[in-house]
Amino acid sequence: MSRGISSEGFGENALKFISNACFGLFVIIVLTLTLIAVTYQPPDPWLQSSKFMSKIFTSVENATYQKDTSILVTGEDVLSISDIGSVAFADPPATITNVTVRAEDEAYLRASMGSCDSSIEAINCSDPGVMVAIKKANLATFSDINLYAYRTPVRGSANTDCDVAWRFKPKKEHSHRMYRDFRRYKLRREASCGFTVIDIGDLHSGENARPQKFRINDSVPTLDQADMSKFRNSKYLYYSRGGDYCKGMNQFQWSFLCALGEAQYLNRTFVVDLDFCLSGSNNPGHGDETGKDLRFYFDYEHLMEATSVIEQKQFLKAWQDWNKIHNHNYIPVRVVPDLKVTPMQLRSEESTVLWRTFDQPEPNNYWYRVCEGESEKVIQRPWHLLWKSKRLMDIVTTICGSLEWDFDAVHIVRGQKAQNKELWPNLDADTSPESILQKLKGKIEEGRNVYIATNEVLPGYFDKLRTSYKIHLLDDYKHLWAPGSEWYNETKALNNGHSVDFDGQMRVEVDSEMFFRGKKHIETFDEITLDCKDGVNTCK
Ligand SMILES: *[C@@H]1O[C@H](CO)[C@@H](O)[C@H](O)[C@H]1NC(C)=O
Ligand SMILES: *[C@@H]1O[C@H](CO)[C@@H](O)[C@H](O)[C@H]1NC(C)=O
Ligand SMILES: *[C@@H]1O[C@H](CO)[C@@H](O)[C@H](O)[C@H]1NC(C)=O
Ligand SMILES: *[C@@H]1O[C@H](CO)[C@@H](O)[C@H](O)[C@H]1NC(C)=O
Ligand SMILES: *[C@@H]1O[C@H](CO)[C@@H](O)[C@H](O)[C@H]1NC(C)=O
Ligand SMILES: *[C@@H]1O[C@H](CO)[C@@H](O)[C@H](O)[C@H]1NC(C)=O
Repeated sequence: MSRGISSEGFGENALKFISNACFGLFVIIVLTLTLIAVTYQPPDPWLQSSKFMSKIFTSVENATYQKDTSILVTGEDVLSISDIGSVAFADPPATITNVTVRAEDEAYLRASMGSCDSSIEAINCSDPGVMVAIKKANLATFSDINLYAYRTPVRGSANTDCDVAWRFKPKKEHSHRMYRDFRRYKLRREASCGFTVIDIGDLHSGENARPQKFRINDSVPTLDQADMSKFRNSKYLYYSRGGDYCKGMNQFQWSFLCALGEAQYLNRTFVVDLDFCLSGSNNPGHGDETGKDLRFYFDYEHLMEATSVIEQKQFLKAWQDWNKIHNHNYIPVRVVPDLKVTPMQLRSEESTVLWRTFDQPEPNNYWYRVCEGESEKVIQRPWHLLWKSKRLMDIVTTICGSLEWDFDAVHIVRGQKAQNKELWPNLDADTSPESILQKLKGKIEEGRNVYIATNEVLPGYFDKLRTSYKIHLLDDYKHLWAPGSEWYNETKALNNGHSVDFDGQMRVEVDSEMFFRGKKHIETFDEITLDCKDGVNTCK
């Protein structure tokens, strides 16, 4: 008995102990999760320390440690789900469940009660039933995009056609960007008074519903006299051009994001130099080219919206004008020639302009050095500020649209690596068309649309794959940047009326996004070849 009691007592105590322990554990878990949530930072997509990146950028001659330049990752590719959740969409996605369709159906039926004559062939596109039929058809057809914000359908070319515009976001895309489409639908009136879509036109086929073009406005706001007091009352972080100029795009990103990070940390407006030099390393067959525009590659409109920036020419002019007018009341400037002055030491600096001059010899004049050492722990690179050029993304969207968003993607690295047999002994052979075909079999179903993102320049190189797949390469879409195209016209306007070459870096940006958007992604390293990405014996 007593044994029973004691065992019962033991049981109770044990239970109590366990429940206490569980509660304690629970508290610890909650605390840990809270801590993780609080200290969580969006991932740095390169997952590299400052030290490692410095090593890469300072040992330019060392091919082994060069970063891959055939894919460009930007902020929109790395946003985590939590970042997306925090942004409210203008409209919820049009996920029509059966319930809502039925509700709309009923409204429609009520509206058309008694006025439904199925002998009339012509279709009134503003009839609510038309919208219901189109939404249903879209949901059944476009499983890879979320649809938003339909406009009211309007008459198409024939009296059984309706054109409608809507916005969408690919399910694969993590950025907050929205795209527009407008298509033509052929409909049939049912005896039941409903409508059925019998044909959906191609991307942008609904000419009569074409929305007014959504203008990219990345023009530089000019400061007029009235803005001068505002100018005087802001605080700026100004970086002189450093040794990064004309270095590769990866180094530019690494440095530019460091600068933006410091500006955000100091709560200052960053002065952006739009005058850009494209390194020959990002544009095979060319040397370094100055006189490019940052907006060819990145989304300056997004940058202006997402943080406080001012264009450098405007900034310098306003500064000069101010000093001319107020010749005894110069704008306070703190010049910082020494990289060793950390952002933390500048936190309480009151001067209007904080000017880092970067006039030491290379590599001590690289912008990213500001974010090394102690600062690395404090300055977060704001990756979410840097998106690819919307003009290039429009090209990506058009290509995806022409593939109905239903394709697989393969990234084939060749170029100099394939020629360097010392560091990549098998790459060349493994990325031969025959070998790729072998590797893709079993991974990608025969007959699928396959987009190949590649730095191989030989025309027709991948033709052998066409026997098994519908192969798509960037050059198949040349018309999207050819003279007369939207991209051509817009970049020309941006470039003071001079036409802009579709260069190697732009190709990489479009190819990268196409690769990310594929349903399946097959990478060169690990999947097509067992050579190591960074050369022999560097595999992890
Ligand atoms: C390249 O750099 C790495 C790391 O700094 C080093 O281990 C390697 O020996 C270097 N290779 C050459 C060829 O200099
Ligand atoms: C919607 O209705 C159709 C047919 O009435 C049915 O096959 C389908 O499973 C339903 N979908 C949902 C999400 O309930
Ligand atoms: C088309 O339908 C809308 C909405 O039901 C109605 O307001 C309009 O008068 C109709 N137009 C014609 C020509 O029947
Ligand atoms: C573009 O934006 C600037 C200010 O940033 C504004 O002054 C200008 O009017 C805009 N242009 C168009 C066409 O909307
Ligand atoms: C940042 O600066 C703005 C204006 O210069 C000011 O309104 C704001 O309070 C500052 N925020 C912090 C955190 O210092
Ligand atoms: C581009 O400009 C040319 C000449 O002004 C014009 O004919 C063409 O329609 C424009 N292209 C687009 C897509 O707007």
